[in-house]
Amino acid sequence: MRIVLKIGGSIVFPNKIDVDIVKNVSKQIVSLSKNHEFLIVVGGGAIAREYIGALKYLGKDDTFLDFIGMEAACLNASLFMAGLGDKAPAEISRNFKHALTTLQIGRIPLLGGTHPGHTTDAVSSMLAEFVGADLFLRFTNVDGVYDKDPKKFSDAKKLAKISHEKLLEIVQDTRAEAGVNAVIDPLAAKILKRAKIKTIVVGKDEIKNIKEVIEGKHKGTEIS
Ligand code: UTP
Repeated sequence: MRIVLKIGGSIVFPNKIDVDIVKNVSKQIVSLSKNHEFLIVVGGGAIAREYIGALKYLGKDDTFLDFIGMEAACLNASLFMAGLGDKAPAEISRNFKHALTTLQIGRIPLLGGTHPGHTTDAVSSMLAEFVGADLFLRFTNVDGVYDKDPKKFSDAKKLAKISHEKLLEIVQDTRAEAGVNAVIDPLAAKILKRAKIKTIVVGKDEIKNIKEVIEGKHKGTEIS
């Protein structure tokens, strides 16, 4: 399978770099690469929020803040350069064509941000469409898609399997602002729907067993 793997910034950079997770995930990906093709997108995490918060306070506009978030995500993605060994790319891909070329020479493309105005979820979904991925696998600090915001509503229910239409319905009212996060960026939800890409949203606890998640054994949400 050709798989776009999105690793939430909150996983690799919760408040400082988690080197153990980076090592663990890299090892799994190198091993799974014998049977699958991976493209990895990494989010901005706490380092992005720290810079975005400071520069917002200092008066910078949202597009500038987006550029900073993109840089932070690229920095986080570069953490995987070490663990991927011979499979590591020469540089972080800043656009989808570079990522595809990297994949074609037998390396694992690494991406952070690509363009202001969206999140690395949107990057992942566009990349998945562009390379014709079979699966978009998204690990983050929310363990699946809920029928309403679990941080606001204690009776929110996690959904095991939903359609792309339902996902879009759940996320469409999210604000477009640097650093703001819904369970998935609404733009990403739209692209996943139009390209009909099978998606799995899982929590960070399950990142230690990527093989099982790919095989459908997980506690997250499948969108198809
Ligand atoms: P993300 O929102 O994707 O990273 O990027 P995150 O906050 O770590 O999200 P999770 O936890 O991985 O899901 C951080 C910010 O960088 C900017 C946006 O402002 C975004 O909120 N960004 C990122 C862009 O403007 N364009 C991109 O292509 C990527």
